[in-house]
Amino acid sequence: MLYSLARSLMFRMDPELSHDMALSSMNVAAMMGVNRLLGAQQLTDSVEVMGLAFPNRVGLAAGLDKNGIAVDGMAAMGFGFIEVGTVTPRPQAGNPKPRIFRLPEQQAIINRMGFNNQGVDTLLRNLDKQQYRGILGINIGKNKDTPNDKANDDYLYCLRKVYPRASYITVNISSPNTPGLRTLQYGDSLNSLLDALKTEQAKLSMIHGRYVPIAVKIAPDMNDEELLLVAAALRAYAMDGVIATNTTLSRDGVEGAEFGNEDGGLSGAPLRNRSTRVIRALAEALEGDLPIIGVGGITEGFDAAEKIEAGASLVQIYSGFIYRGPKLVTESVRAIQQLSQA
Ligand code: FNR
Repeated sequence: MLYSLARSLMFRMDPELSHDMALSSMNVAAMMGVNRLLGAQQLTDSVEVMGLAFPNRVGLAAGLDKNGIAVDGMAAMGFGFIEVGTVTPRPQAGNPKPRIFRLPEQQAIINRMGFNNQGVDTLLRNLDKQQYRGILGINIGKNKDTPNDKANDDYLYCLRKVYPRASYITVNISSPNTPGLRTLQYGDSLNSLLDALKTEQAKLSMIHGRYVPIAVKIAPDMNDEELLLVAAALRAYAMDGVIATNTTLSRDGVEGAEFGNEDGGLSGAPLRNRSTRVIRALAEALEGDLPIIGVGGITEGFDAAEKIEAGASLVQIYSGFIYRGPKLVTESVRAIQQLSQA
């Protein structure tokens, strides 16, 4: 109820402005107990995935808190884990505004942010100021002006920087808003990146005395054959997890809607089935070798449970959280809990 009120105020403002305002006041709001007024509850349904103990299976997806300024506030919304980023080696401005569009009737968002972020050093400084000691994923990417044949250097640079602070690290090769990024999901580019990451991870785990799992985040727009090739590469290089999926270039479900034709990645309800299909196909191809984190179009508890049934071990939410607030987190944890009791 209170979230609907807060939402109707925020939705009258420019999407990016209201996003920035909400994020910068999040930690203070949580300290004052606003999270509980908005319907947040800390529910426990513990599970071990990638060797890490998660208090529940419902996490915040990457992109909402790119610079790690609101981790405490987000954790107070009941999430079992938080993913920050995508962060790049150097700060970058991202694409010109406007670059985020709400499609409320479709419970969808189209964005072409383009990895706007303050760079990995600022992210780490911001994280130092957070009290949160739960599971923290750090999502890494490459700068827009780094050519693809030097992309590995950017990922390795970020990997080394964030390794000591992350519970797990996500390698984002699936944003549609950095030109050419998605080509890293294929063939030699993919093999060379995964190889470089695993070699560096082995070195870093010796240096730091701690193994930090690496998950790869993929797009929902691959055909079956491409998906099988990605799954085979993830197995061959013994990656620790896969996050499926990022936003889609498809416009199914938003035809004719205001902003439906804006360029960028589509997320929220229209992405749901596409993402679940990818999870199902991956689950079959991976045969349990690595866990799947399911994300895309969760707007009710049922959708979260559906992703788990399709083969995901954990789920993440972004757009649904914007539309429904912390109640969706509670609902999702409960729906997943009911699966194991059924
Ligand atoms: C995203 N997403 C995203 N993903 C990522 O790996 N790095 C990022 O920086 C971002 N940035 C971002 C910005 C905005 C405005 C949105 C809406 C989304 C993708 C996100 O993490 C998630 O994979 C998709 O949005 C699908 O989930 P939902 O939104 O349907 O729950």
